Amino acid sequence: MKLQQYSAPIYEALEAFRRQRIVPFDVPGHKRGRGNPELVELLGERCLSLDVNSMKPLDNLGHPTSVIRKAEELAADAFGAEHAFLMVNGTTSSVQAMILSVCKENEKIILPRNVHKSVINALILCGGIPVYVPSKVNDRIGIALGMDPKAVEKVMDENPDATAVFVNNPTYYGICSDLVTITRMAHERGMKVLVDEAHGTHLYFGEELPVSGIEAGADLTAVSMHKSGGSLTQSSILLCGQGMDPEYVRQIINLSQTTSASYLLLSSLDISRRNLALRGKVSFERVSQMARYAREEINEIGGYYAYGKELIDGRNVFDFDETKLLVYTRDIGLTGIEVYDLLRDEYDIQIEFGDIGNILAYISIGDRQQDIERLVGALEDIKCSAVPGKKDHLEVDDFIEPVMVKTPRESFYAKKEQVAIKDASGRVSGEMLMCYPPGIPILTPGEMVSDEIVEYILFAKEKGCSLQGPMDPEVEYLSVLK
Ligand SMILES: Cc1ncc(COP(=O)(O)O)c(C=O)c1O
Repeated sequence: MKLQQYSAPIYEALEAFRRQRIVPFDVPGHKRGRGNPELVELLGERCLSLDVNSMKPLDNLGHPTSVIRKAEELAADAFGAEHAFLMVNGTTSSVQAMILSVCKENEKIILPRNVHKSVINALILCGGIPVYVPSKVNDRIGIALGMDPKAVEKVMDENPDATAVFVNNPTYYGICSDLVTITRMAHERGMKVLVDEAHGTHLYFGEELPVSGIEAGADLTAVSMHKSGGSLTQSSILLCGQGMDPEYVRQIINLSQTTSASYLLLSSLDISRRNLALRGKVSFERVSQMARYAREEINEIGGYYAYGKELIDGRNVFDFDETKLLVYTRDIGLTGIEVYDLLRDEYDIQIEFGDIGNILAYISIGDRQQDIERLVGALEDIKCSAVPGKKDHLEVDDFIEPVMVKTPRESFYAKKEQVAIKDASGRVSGEMLMCYPPGIPILTPGEMVSDEIVEYILFAKEKGCSLQGPMDPEVEYLSVLK
């Protein structure tokens, strides 16, 4: 880092503004909260007094020239990037800006199928064509693994006209692909490298963690500061490597970015970046230690499998992010969804997600040792009352690779009809369907529905999984192509 990371220009400008007691004849209309006392009661006076719009001393996110520009330079420096964009519409907007920056109508992009829904939605918006690298699934825990560089190379050679390769670093399940090799292969062929680091902010600051996108030489990477970075929900950062023109990326961002960016979100990004630059190394060492400790304790209980670096095989799992506490639960006779519900309903513990086979407890810079003990204790308790070997569930994996028959955009805009999900096998889906979280589509527009996929959806529904995507709010029906 070359810059003085202890400054936080947006935060400092907001503090100066607050002391000035400017009379507001601009939006927002709540006027420092005075017009909405109930909101002040909920959020506090300080918070509402800082909920202001762009103005001279506070800069403008659409065309930053002063404090936001400085904050972006500091963020780029902290992450080792050429340029950083502060984002206020989630990592969804960072992912979409990455794809729209490199892929136009009918251009191909190489990617794994286990991407977040924002990726598929970006392809609907820009008309890009996904070319999937076949995923391997771990037999024991049923999750999709990373991208084997050999498989990526084959797809690259078969599709030399692809404009970019998209990589998850890591996946929601902590799995990392060999990003350095994939980046080298892509650049040799003139393809850009886009990295989804929604779950990887800490890779830039901690030690002994998998390589980050920028370090690996990626062209663009989407970093969810609000996940492991500690900023407010919905704030995110988009990083540019050497291969991109940041002014063009800014134009793409401005296609859909609000003209009323929240200073609560912007200042939270500024302060979090400073915090991570100054203290990230120590904080993430603590996070790794807590996750390692929890993993050992949970594996001691028996029945559960809290997985870690032993999954590394040099190809499909190049590295594993140890801060992710994932536990395979089916050997105790319960699905991940059931353990998720039990933790919430019986133990007042909210975890990140439960799917058919796994749970994810998100461990971060805000956790305390006593909370880890509570989680371990609750899991022990749940195990004692479970019935191991209970066979009320199907032997399905949490990742089923569907077959794409039409592009996402073509299918999204095609003529459709509704059929009951139980009868949808053999039809082409016209919409997305996923469990949220993790938000990885089970089906995207243009994919063939199979018996296995129908079984998975019905089973996930029966177990209480939150299914989203279809037009039908009850998720009884699926829109399929006519
Ligand atoms: C892999 C991945 N990418 C992108 C996103 C989108 O992030 P956000 O919810 O901040 O829009 C998520 C959200 O969970 C995600 O898991």
